[in-house]
Amino acid sequence: MADQATLKLEGKEFNLPVIIGTEDEKAIDINNLRDQTGYVTLDSGYKNTGATQSAITFLDGELGILRYRGYSIEDLAEKATFLEVAYLLIYGELPNQPELAKFEYDIKHRTMVNEDMRKIYDGFPVNAHPMGVMAALFSALTAFYPESLDPNRSPEKVNLTILRSMAKLPTLAAWAYKNSQGHPLNYPKNGLDYCSNFLHMMFALPAEEYKVDPVVADALNKLLILHADHEQNCSTSTVRLVGSSKASLYSAVSAGICALWGPLHGGANQEVIEMLEKIHADGGNVQKWIEKAKDKNDNFRLMGFGHRVYKNFDPRAKIIKKACDDVLKKLGINDPTLEIAQKLEEAALTDPYFIERKLYPNVDFYSGIIYRAIGIPTNMFTVMFAMGRLPGWIAQWKESRENAEPIGRPRQIYTGPKLRPFKSMNQR
Ligand code: SDX
Repeated sequence: MADQATLKLEGKEFNLPVIIGTEDEKAIDINNLRDQTGYVTLDSGYKNTGATQSAITFLDGELGILRYRGYSIEDLAEKATFLEVAYLLIYGELPNQPELAKFEYDIKHRTMVNEDMRKIYDGFPVNAHPMGVMAALFSALTAFYPESLDPNRSPEKVNLTILRSMAKLPTLAAWAYKNSQGHPLNYPKNGLDYCSNFLHMMFALPAEEYKVDPVVADALNKLLILHADHEQNCSTSTVRLVGSSKASLYSAVSAGICALWGPLHGGANQEVIEMLEKIHADGGNVQKWIEKAKDKNDNFRLMGFGHRVYKNFDPRAKIIKKACDDVLKKLGINDPTLEIAQKLEEAALTDPYFIERKLYPNVDFYSGIIYRAIGIPTNMFTVMFAMGRLPGWIAQWKESRENAEPIGRPRQIYTGPKLRPFKSMNQR
């Protein structure tokens, strides 16, 4: 393994240090490149650029491996609760019983939001997309907890903001949905666990007793774990970048929610279901849509397929696909979009276009089918992704602050006009 790289430029040689991670990932350290050589690097979309060194999540795109703090996603999805995984991501270790009990208690007793928040909901039109509502309301938490704005906040204040974030996002999410339905808002019930409490706030109606189905709560627990972190993806990089200016955690997460909303990122789970419904309505001719996805003159893409890092199966997609079968069988649901999704996958995985480009189903391909089966409306799918990704965003923000990482400020290569004299109006 090399311990340095040698760069030849303009007849000179420059030695650059090499960094090797605990899983043998290799990087050339260019922290002093510009000072040494006068050159910067250029890497559109950061496809070859590491932004940080992190101890939180490891993924291997070639082997389809995903681990949180060294624990495999398969083990965690099967054996842990979402709050255990959140604790692991944020604090670095799985909690023992007293630690978990305190974490659950501290979160349960902060699920209420200030009643004045209701006035902000009232300001949104009922057809407002819940992701836009969530980004606005999560940022509004800075108004109710101004101490979170202190750039030199103590570790105790940081932890209080972390607990409030974990506690209040489900309430804000459920209220965004109820507000859009014109339903009365449901308040949190501290006797329920994290997932059951969210389902209660989402679906309870005054007219009838709402009982949480354990199959649904278990499926939600698994989905949230599978979305909890994914190293330096678009929205997490956004959270770290906003956090690098010493903005509050609420502001950084609000920016992460906006980045996740994009259809190429977390917004894909909503796009997948809409795509599957469109194919179903079109008669279910899967091959026709595969050809459209391959046609460069057609802007249709197979949503839920492909990934910047995974060039093999996304391990989360495998787990969700199996959970799809289980949950729909247990709930006695026959969803035609599941059959279409399976046919699409089979067709794509044998098609040279997808094979050559190493395009496999990603986390978003099957998740919408389960969300729909447990009653989550389509425009809330990406909100569910945000709820799952929250502990990952928090852990990554916390790590970058504890490592005192500098403000993020990339360089560029200028390609505009050279210096030119100002033109008065009659010269233009
Ligand atoms: C998430 O980064 C993360 O970790 C994200 C995430 C997380 O947990 O945070 O995993 C969550 O965002 C999952 C991805 C959800 N997005 C989608 O499902 C949208 C559909 N997929 C794509 O748009 C695309 O695959 C991306 C955005 C996911 C990745 O894009 P890249 O890495 O920039 O790759 P690319 O667009 O350059 O594509 C490479 C080639 C191109 O063909 P050529 O120009 O080489 O001929 O593959 C083709 C693309 O046209 N391609 C697809 C395709 N995805 C890529 N062709 C058809 N259908 C697709 N879905």
